[in-house]
Amino acid sequence: MRFLKKGDDKKPKSESGSETKGHPDLKVISGSQISGRQPQQQAPPQQQQQPQNITLPNIKYKIAVASGKGGVGKSTVATNLAISLANAGGAVGLMDADAYGPSIPTMMGIQEQPKVSPERKLVPLVRHNIKLMSIGFMVPEEQAMIWRGPMLHSSIRQLLSDVEWGELDYLIIDLPPGTGDVALSLTQAIPLTGALIVTTPQDVALADVRRGVAMFERLGVPILGIIENMSYFLCPHCNEKTEIFRKDGGRNMSERFGVEFLGQIPLDAEVCTAGDIGVPIVAGHPESPQSEAFGTVAQELETVLEETGDEDELTIL
Ligand SMILES: Nc1ncnc2c1ncn2[C@@H]1O[C@H](COP(=O)(O)OP(=O)(O)OP(=O)(O)O)[C@@H](O)[C@H]1O
Ligand SMILES: [Mg+2]
Repeated sequence: MRFLKKGDDKKPKSESGSETKGHPDLKVISGSQISGRQPQQQAPPQQQQQPQNITLPNIKYKIAVASGKGGVGKSTVATNLAISLANAGGAVGLMDADAYGPSIPTMMGIQEQPKVSPERKLVPLVRHNIKLMSIGFMVPEEQAMIWRGPMLHSSIRQLLSDVEWGELDYLIIDLPPGTGDVALSLTQAIPLTGALIVTTPQDVALADVRRGVAMFERLGVPILGIIENMSYFLCPHCNEKTEIFRKDGGRNMSERFGVEFLGQIPLDAEVCTAGDIGVPIVAGHPESPQSEAFGTVAQELETVLEETGDEDELTIL
């Protein structure tokens, strides 16, 4: 495992938001705030269109976990993949960029307000050996979050630049579903090493893979690979595999796009329960076949990253 040398850690200035709800250092606009008309005090359009790139020189790989479709298991994959990479010796951060429905606090089993360092940066919470940051830490769980474009953009930037991430090998970024604003904000804010696309094997989900791939192509972000989730049911009694959905859809899709196929994750009740109780399966049952599947994906990802070397050398599809 290679680590970065310590470089400059420039402290970017916070961007302004019109109101602060929850944590004083993160400007979030919530449902209750939007019910009244908001005064016209957004950042001028010119400012929005000239994003300054945040470089995060102490983070080696910045990887977005995305899908064209909701509910396919991005957050489940992001949490378990992060822990697998940490188990293999990596220093790992996990950023929950799902501003609409942050699920990392629940899945990682932690719900606290992050502290602020003397340098006025948010200190990530640490759970299962992973540094975590989520908008969900700043806002009460049941509160609806409604975002105006510029506020969403600046909040995503704050999660990157106003957080004391320190030295990391990997920053895994869990995206909301679909092809949208958050991905755009993210790619305008930092040079992503690449994106992982999570899918389920059926045709209907695979059509969304196409959209996800197309979006990252347009944003100039390399696709590091496709992960097929809920690929098969593994009988807990006899270990027999049953392919509930279509067989090998993700693999076929990756071949069609010429993208790496990083592996299959079984559909399994324990994977689901583990996320609900806040102890991802890789943390709670590291020796289980389900955890092995996540470990294989992590290994494949490491291989892709090592083969392609520095992020600058990655080919954009
Ligand atoms: N391999 C799996 N086996 C069983 N349950 C799973 C598996 N992967 C995900 N789930 C369950 O499916 C549900 C959706 O998963 P998850 O929240 O990870 O999806 P998502 O793509 O992040 O959703 P969203 O698009 O809403 O962000 C959760 O209840 C999760 O526990
Ligand atoms: Mg999610």
